[in-house]
Amino acid sequence: MNARVLITGSAGFLGTNLVPALVAKGYAVIGLDNLMHGHRSAVRELEGTGFRFIEGDVRDIATVRAAADGADVIIHFAEAKIPRYGGTRATLEANVIGTENVLAVAAQNGARVIYGSTDEVYGKNPERWLNEEAALVLGQTNVNRWAYAASKLLSEQLCFAYQESHGVKMTILRYTSGYGIHQSLDWQGGPQSVFITAALRGEKIPIHGDGLQSRTFTHAGDMVRGTVLALESPYADGEIFNIGSRDEITIINLAYLIWRLVKNPQKPRLEFVPYTDFSRNYEDVRHRALDISKASYLLGYEPRVNLADGLRETIQWQASMLGSPGEI
Ligand SMILES: NC(=O)c1ccc[n+]([C@@H]2O[C@H](COP(=O)([O-])OP(=O)(O)OC[C@H]3O[C@@H](n4cnc5c(N)ncnc54)[C@H](O)[C@@H]3O)[C@@H](O)[C@H]2O)c1
Repeated sequence: MNARVLITGSAGFLGTNLVPALVAKGYAVIGLDNLMHGHRSAVRELEGTGFRFIEGDVRDIATVRAAADGADVIIHFAEAKIPRYGGTRATLEANVIGTENVLAVAAQNGARVIYGSTDEVYGKNPERWLNEEAALVLGQTNVNRWAYAASKLLSEQLCFAYQESHGVKMTILRYTSGYGIHQSLDWQGGPQSVFITAALRGEKIPIHGDGLQSRTFTHAGDMVRGTVLALESPYADGEIFNIGSRDEITIINLAYLIWRLVKNPQKPRLEFVPYTDFSRNYEDVRHRALDISKASYLLGYEPRVNLADGLRETIQWQASMLGSPGEI
């Protein structure tokens, strides 16, 4: 019989893409989410087909304990995101307390933990193609962007601490710039979400800074594949893996690509927004590209979806969502 898996944050972007993949493979899946950002509708049709949803908060250990009852694996995705516009305390609280609760329950139950971490922990490290050994270089504590990275870094430390003190089996997956269906349509979902909406409406695409900062965007299907490989690999215990793509692109070229794929007949309309316009002391990261060779060699992970194809699918989905908001 396949394992029973609890996914925290199951109603978010990654969760809603992962749940159907695990159900299709025969796993019994339980989802836990407080619906702070997530959308129950995205997984509603799966309920009763090997998937059960619990509305609840990972900050409450009794809730996590009840949800994890009988679970062999806990995939921990629940999180509060980058506090770019405030919410720093909420970010620290949800991410750190949530992770500690998950680990404490895993220690009691003997469940394995897969922790959804982020490339943000590499912070300002200027190296290109950062591997898992690269230094984690965070910025000043008065720049609220780093609260998110600090909370995820501390969560990773907690994973290793519970491995050491309680023998919890755990794997850390550092994802980067995910896109695809079920992504948030605003900045929470990343620049591509905002750019697609603007291009579909023929509005100006807001480019923060000069747009020459670059990222490696990763399709939801590849993120799911990497997660399933880590879940099923005999080599993943105690390891950190970067899960990303090799599709590095500048933000301005992402805007141009989306404008063309949307087939907007007008010339691209860009609006350059200085960082100071949206946050007093915001700090951007110039380039962020993950070396995924460890996941490739040890897990057999290879991203399969190229950026243009993945964006075409995302644009189609997002256009339908904008026609019927609320059904994300
Ligand atoms: N998507 C990406 O591009 C990306 C990149 C790097 C890292 N990650 C990591 O992957 C994981 C999943 O990311 P995502 O994009 O699906 O995030 P998401 O924001 O779409 O989903 C997070 C979910 O957690 C839920 N949640 C928030 N606080 C909660 C709480 N206290 N109790 C219960 N549920 C709560 C939200 O309602 C939401 O459904 C995160 O931990 C994130 O750090 C994602």
